[in-house]
Amino acid sequence: MKPANPLKPANLVTRDSAAIWHPYTQMKTRSEPLPIVRGEGVYLYTDDGRKLLDGTSSWWVNIHGHSHPRLNEALAAQARTLEHVVFASCTHAPAVDLAERLLSVVPKGLTRVFYSDDGSTAVEVALKLAYQFWGNRGQDRRTFIGLSHAYHGDTVGAMSVSEPSIFTRPFAPMLFDVIRAHAPYCFRCPVGLERATCHIECLEAQGHAGGSTHALESLLEAHGDSVAAVIVEPMLQGAGGMIVWPAEFLAGVRRLCDRFGTLLIADEVLTGFGRTGRMFACEHASVSPDIMCLSKAITAGYMPLGATIATEAIYDAFLSDDRTRTFFHGHSFTANPLACAVAVASFDMFREQGTLARIADLERWLHAGLDPLRGLPIVGDVRIIGAVGIVELVSHKATKDAGGYLDGIGPALAASFLDRGLLLRPLGNVLYFMPPYVIDQAQTTWALEQVSAVLGELSRSM
Ligand SMILES: Cc1ncc(COP(=O)(O)O)c(C=O)c1O
Repeated sequence: MKPANPLKPANLVTRDSAAIWHPYTQMKTRSEPLPIVRGEGVYLYTDDGRKLLDGTSSWWVNIHGHSHPRLNEALAAQARTLEHVVFASCTHAPAVDLAERLLSVVPKGLTRVFYSDDGSTAVEVALKLAYQFWGNRGQDRRTFIGLSHAYHGDTVGAMSVSEPSIFTRPFAPMLFDVIRAHAPYCFRCPVGLERATCHIECLEAQGHAGGSTHALESLLEAHGDSVAAVIVEPMLQGAGGMIVWPAEFLAGVRRLCDRFGTLLIADEVLTGFGRTGRMFACEHASVSPDIMCLSKAITAGYMPLGATIATEAIYDAFLSDDRTRTFFHGHSFTANPLACAVAVASFDMFREQGTLARIADLERWLHAGLDPLRGLPIVGDVRIIGAVGIVELVSHKATKDAGGYLDGIGPALAASFLDRGLLLRPLGNVLYFMPPYVIDQAQTTWALEQVSAVLGELSRSM
């Protein structure tokens, strides 16, 4: 590398290239990162003067808009008071205030908040809690059941329960075995049925031949006594393809976990705090999980923070005079006061500003902009839930094939949207729009017009 010329300041991208290793990025072939210098509302601004609409809420975390004055002040005020303290032997108001608020809205029966750092660690905590819960009760249950298309994070436990993929393949020998159950991916039904006429057979169908996944019921019948927990992303499976569920499937998962006496972990890292139109996705089916994982929008995208919330029965199993029954887990930044304080401010804004009603409006605008795209030859499916609009692209409508022409379509689409001032990160052939909830109708309409124009051009070029 050439030594830097001290007389000529290098630009941000050049300095980045010399010093940084980016996530999920092949650094040899990557395109230049966008130099973002400022955010305000739904917009991000680059150092070369571009204004971009943040169509993915900065990796699904931002809900009230960028650099919001009230959240800025909450963070600054907390920094002036107490920035951090060990949480093993101390407590502080932001952590308690936040826990009380969370417990006032989470599904019934969840009573204990355990803090961690992000979505992956919230999932690790859930898995370890479930595992040790059974051990503390003298039962040897080592098996986890996850769903196909699942994504739960990038740490080793979270990767294990995620669907094996290009992301996890290099680490396969490090991961523990997980049994995989069908997900209700209605557009590509795992048992070959149509949603309009099915009875959620993917949950209960017996003896489905072929493939490495099976209906949850048959798996629980086969492995019931050894199953520590079933883990799901309720109602919306995110990184695995933006798959929207029928609420009946979620209700059925809870029913089966009860029938076979195992725990249900709801990973609401993506879905929590309104993303699917309810405060928590579990509410769509009126179910309470035994353990719930939260992160992402919990701090409105300001600070990393995870929370794993468990029932009193799980908490009780760790109470003992025998120290070996303790939950020996923690992180340096557990319950960081800055993160908790901004989460409290975000929570209060959410309630005071009628955010759920705003999301209901957004859901309507998404339908208005995206439903008409169903007619395009390249559009296989349109899925909308709460503040997420999804378009699954196909090469051939009849076969639903998404290979061939569409291979590698994600980056090409992202570049077209960027040229138009819209920041999106399609998941291969699955395009989604997931803006901060503060987006208004005109901004939504504009963004969806860009989607429509780009997909129209693509359809004509095929
Ligand atoms: C459902 C779900 N769980 C867990 C995670 C991991 O969260 P993090 O990236 O904060 O570790 C994600 C991230 O996208 C997620 O969508």
